[in-house]
Amino acid sequence: MPIVEVRGLYKRYGDRTAVDGVSFDVREGEIFGILGSNGAGKTTTAECVSGLRRPDEGTVRVAGLDPIADRVALTELLGAQLQQSELQPKMTVREALELYASFYPHPVDGIALAERLGLGHALGTRFAKLSGGQQQRLFIALALIGAPRVVVLDELTTGLDPRGRRETWELIEEIRASGVTVLLVTHFMEEAQRLCDRVAIFDSGRIEALGTPTELIDRTSTAVVVSFRPSASLDPEALSALPGVLAVRRDHDRLVVEGNDESVEAVLALLAREGISPRRLRITEATLDDAFLDITASEKLT
Ligand SMILES: Nc1ncnc2c1ncn2[C@@H]1O[C@H](COP(=O)(O)OP(=O)(O)O)[C@@H](O)[C@H]1O
Ligand SMILES: [Mg+2]
Repeated sequence: MPIVEVRGLYKRYGDRTAVDGVSFDVREGEIFGILGSNGAGKTTTAECVSGLRRPDEGTVRVAGLDPIADRVALTELLGAQLQQSELQPKMTVREALELYASFYPHPVDGIALAERLGLGHALGTRFAKLSGGQQQRLFIALALIGAPRVVVLDELTTGLDPRGRRETWELIEEIRASGVTVLLVTHFMEEAQRLCDRVAIFDSGRIEALGTPTELIDRTSTAVVVSFRPSASLDPEALSALPGVLAVRRDHDRLVVEGNDESVEAVLALLAREGISPRRLRITEATLDDAFLDITASEKLT
């Protein structure tokens, strides 16, 4: 049974439709990604799941609870990351942990949590003096302090440097490993590809695709690109005719073949038959970035 169920969700601000009929399920124990460009409706959807906004239409259930009607019960099982402005700059890490622990009936040990998140030495540090990465880790700690079954993390790594981002990714993986379900809102494709079991690609308030990152990548027209410098002259037409090949082009002295796994095998077999070696052979796979561009672009054309 899914732990989060969203059915036919609509949310309008005035005459602007922010969420335009969205349905998805999050399974217990997974990291589910809500992915999309700015203004796609990600935060509004996450806020409806967290009970911070009331849907105009549709239903949301978290472990069977209605986030608005069952608000109090919901806070016991769902942790949402705070926005920056919600913490006093002078509050220390320890004070923030104690304050937020007091909101929940069965909080976890805040000191142990801080140590697990690499904040053990910063307990006496005021919020304003923490680095960007430490602030994000504190927000994660505050989302986890009530021992939730689900956490909602919205653009958690925005503004972090690459190292801080990678550390935060490791933390999110640890959260999942401890059995907590994660709803992760992000516009970073690399982050989603690395972390998410399944992702929903949002565009203009709608879900344009939903699946595992691998499924979405496999759906892109150009899944694999093989390129090489042929040791002897080779007719590009012979490559174009191979199974799975979508396009062949020249890039200086290299031949670039766009296709899929099947076309890579066919290209290598052809070269072997012709006695031509593929010098400086490179095979690159499409990423979620390519899939995202493909999915959102094709929708715009229709
Ligand atoms: N409080 C609000 N009042 C009016 N419009 C809003 C409000 N919040 C969001 N919007 C609009 O709704 C759309 C979706 O916003 P949002 O859910 O924040 O998207 P995302 O998180 O994907 O960037 C955007 O066009 C945004 O401008
Ligand atoms: Mg947002």
